[in-house]
Amino acid sequence: MPKIAPSVLAADFAHLADDLAEARRAGVDMLHLDIMDGHFVPNISFGPNVVGTINKLTELFLDVHLMLSEPEKYFEAFVKAGADAITFHLEVHAEPGTYAEQIRELGVRPGISINPDMDVENVLPHLKHFDYLLLMSVFPGFGGQQFITSVLPKISRARDYVDSNKLDTVIMVDGGVDANNAAEVISAGADILVMGTAFFRSRDKIGLVEKVKKLGTPREAS
Ligand code: DX5
Ligand code: ZN
Repeated sequence: MPKIAPSVLAADFAHLADDLAEARRAGVDMLHLDIMDGHFVPNISFGPNVVGTINKLTELFLDVHLMLSEPEKYFEAFVKAGADAITFHLEVHAEPGTYAEQIRELGVRPGISINPDMDVENVLPHLKHFDYLLLMSVFPGFGGQQFITSVLPKISRARDYVDSNKLDTVIMVDGGVDANNAAEVISAGADILVMGTAFFRSRDKIGLVEKVKKLGTPREAS
């Protein structure tokens, strides 16, 4: 069954406790927390203190997406704040396996991400070190952007690689995912959909989660 990870970036921070409680009631699987440094991406979001606050407000698994030029400096701070998974970008570290080990030693799950313009072949040899592959379907930095459809074949290629190499790496897709494109993202091979704007702006969050979960993954069908 596909999973949904709402991106808290799109929540109403004036009513964060309510928004997180609503996400939980809607049956989401985890929360996706977007950390931006104003250097790797042209925007600044929030840091470990806010992650710590979110951790106090919810029992949900916290998937922390580091859009940072020097992510390794902050692994420990985000783990202490309550992260359950930490993803960083291949763009900032060409040999990411050592960072994956550091993240595991801190007791959480490592993930690796690539931007829409990076060849998916570059990340595949590293997947054996990672629990998550986060394929960006927008250029990171802002919520509410349009899904880049040329990422669909990359999802399929990653799915084939993970399956044929019998890896456990979970494939997540992040950016511009909504109720309209969820079916094609899932049938391309995604396990988890990150949804920011589409989730928090939805007036029927329970219905949205139900609809996505009914779609089923290709592997379940086969
Ligand atoms: C982009 C972030 C995404 C984004 C998702 O920089 O990594 O997680 O906030 O939000 P939507 O679903 O609005 O594109
Ligand atoms: Zn993200």
